[in-house]
Amino acid sequence: MPKTKNNLKSLKVKAEKELLRAQDPKDLDIVFKKYLGKKGELTRILRSLKNLPKAKRVKVGKEANKLKNFLSIRFSEAISVLKEKAQKEGKVNEWLDITAPGKKAVLGHLHPLTLVRRKAEEIFGNMGFTVVEGPEMETEWYNFDALNIPKDHPARDLWDTFYLKNGLLLRTHTSPVQIRYMEKNQPPLRIIVPGRVFRHEATDSSHEVNFYQIEGLMIDKEISVANFKAIIQEFFQRFFSKGVEIRLRPSYFPFVEPGFEIDIKMDKGWMEMAGAGMVHPNVLKNAGLNPKEWQGFAFGMGLDRLAMMKYKIDDIRLFYSGDLRFLNQF
Ligand code: FA5
Repeated sequence: MPKTKNNLKSLKVKAEKELLRAQDPKDLDIVFKKYLGKKGELTRILRSLKNLPKAKRVKVGKEANKLKNFLSIRFSEAISVLKEKAQKEGKVNEWLDITAPGKKAVLGHLHPLTLVRRKAEEIFGNMGFTVVEGPEMETEWYNFDALNIPKDHPARDLWDTFYLKNGLLLRTHTSPVQIRYMEKNQPPLRIIVPGRVFRHEATDSSHEVNFYQIEGLMIDKEISVANFKAIIQEFFQRFFSKGVEIRLRPSYFPFVEPGFEIDIKMDKGWMEMAGAGMVHPNVLKNAGLNPKEWQGFAFGMGLDRLAMMKYKIDDIRLFYSGDLRFLNQF
């Protein structure tokens, strides 16, 4: 017992001396660890208490704990002194309070529409499609005329359009990028075009004024509706990781012939996911391709609708609400 007591005494003297000698937080940290760290000298003594006979344990235990408290206080004092000194010397920014509790960084995360867009890009990418983008401000030529929708044609009313003061318009669909791409690239080609589109229409649970589409275009020598059906079915299969029931309904779009719409079966009924069809010869001509040589299919899919189905969301407006209670779930 006297041995341990002496040990404690000399330990106290040693520790105090070293404390006073510490010039900066790093030194202090070393001294702290030497005595009070996991394998520190005092910690070791405290741990070995359990091996002492009871009477001795109580006595030495008391002394050792007293010393522990004493040194802890001396350490915080020394830290304050060093902190003050650092502040005076203008080294505040270099000061690191090693005793401060850590702050948990709040990690950001991707918006559900971004997740869906990336997933779609990955799947189509694996099927040989290249991702292409186009401008959100468009000319009437690319958004309408080149797509076989001449001025004063009633089909223009299918898309309620925001016209801009600079003579351009906000694209109502991603289809204009078909023309832009074919003008500059020779077939055979396979692209998808994810992007933001705008429509001057009333909103409801499945319609927004601003939403996203993914355009698809595949041009080659011998492409048929069967190719399209196989590719789109494969896409949905991989996207939803399970078989889904799809239905092709005849429909009209001036830039395809024949044209159809694709619905997916949901619990409550069918949801319209995309418009599609075989690219109209006039569209190929307008993009500088010979329709006798080339043919292909195109589709325009609602990205928001894909996300609604994937995550079982019943109102499209939630995506644009900025409501963190909603967004934090992804
Ligand atoms: C088009 O926009 C055509 N460009 C699609 C196309 C491309 C047809 C290539 C043929 C060949 P539509 O207006 O039907 O078609 O829109 C396509 C998809 O976008 C719809 O099936 C739907 O999923 C989505 N969509 C349409 N309007 C809205 C809206 N207001 N809010 C959210 N999604 C919408």
